[in-house]
Amino acid sequence: MDSNIMQAILNSVEKYKGIKEGKNASYIPYLAEVDPNLCALTVVTKEGEVFSAGDDEYRFAIESISKVCTLALAMEDLGPEKVRQKIGDSPTGLPFNSVIALELHKDKPLTPLVNAGAMATTSIIKANSKEERWKRILDFQKKMMSDKVELSDEVNKSEQTTNFHNRGIAWLLYSAQQMFSDPMEACEVYTRQCSTLVSSKDLATLAATLANKGKNPITKEQVIKESHISHILAEMTMEGLYEESGDFAYTVGLPAKSGVGGGLLAVVPGVLGIAAFSPPLNKYGNSVKGIKMIKHLAKELNYNIY
Ligand code: DON
Repeated sequence: MDSNIMQAILNSVEKYKGIKEGKNASYIPYLAEVDPNLCALTVVTKEGEVFSAGDDEYRFAIESISKVCTLALAMEDLGPEKVRQKIGDSPTGLPFNSVIALELHKDKPLTPLVNAGAMATTSIIKANSKEERWKRILDFQKKMMSDKVELSDEVNKSEQTTNFHNRGIAWLLYSAQQMFSDPMEACEVYTRQCSTLVSSKDLATLAATLANKGKNPITKEQVIKESHISHILAEMTMEGLYEESGDFAYTVGLPAKSGVGGGLLAVVPGVLGIAAFSPPLNKYGNSVKGIKMIKHLAKELNYNIY
């Protein structure tokens, strides 16, 4: 089995690393400059074994994948029912940065995995100050991945100085009473949580923590309550890849989450976590090679939860 996983990883990377489709995200200046040829694919099993190929030590911006960590922390703080009631639990069918996603649905952002819902989720994390909220979110990212996860001042500066759209969404949320802390503080902390650097090994560990009922298979720490995992995976299935979520569920059949930094993770519940990294994105903001590599790997290893 182990040699099958490694061979499937090598086959996927070899098949797709050279393709030239997609474009780096350009609305965040830092991301536009990342080498588009970087490419990695990693698996971490629930036993903590690591299989990996390509640029798997390269550290890139986590971006929207951080929404999964903050959602998990919000559930630890408030329980899944309260998070569901305040933020929502449904797909938007709209882009990740949609303002309409907020407006059309009686002001509730619908899901913690679009920017509107993600900022509202950041705002409900229990904390007495901005710095305490940030520290709790960063510590939680570390627990789900590794101690190596750190804020990049460079990415953060690049995002904080250009995030006018998210600030607009944050004020809309506030005017609809859907922000549970100061809106600009929530937007700032949300932007920091997107600006941490991770490797494909870290992301595969995050995916494996979700696959392993909330226990990080490398550190052996129970990070998330087991009973919350099915709710998190349901959100990922419905909205993890935005408008491409349905296609991925239909063709691959695994809960997944993308980030505009080029990271993509998928979870095989009870078995292992998969992470891919390649910066060029398709029109939905998902990594082109990431989707292809994970699709290929899952097919070769026969993983599809449906
Ligand atoms: O808020 C933003 O626009 C970025 N920090 C994150 C967006 C993102 O990663 C969307 N996912 N594919």
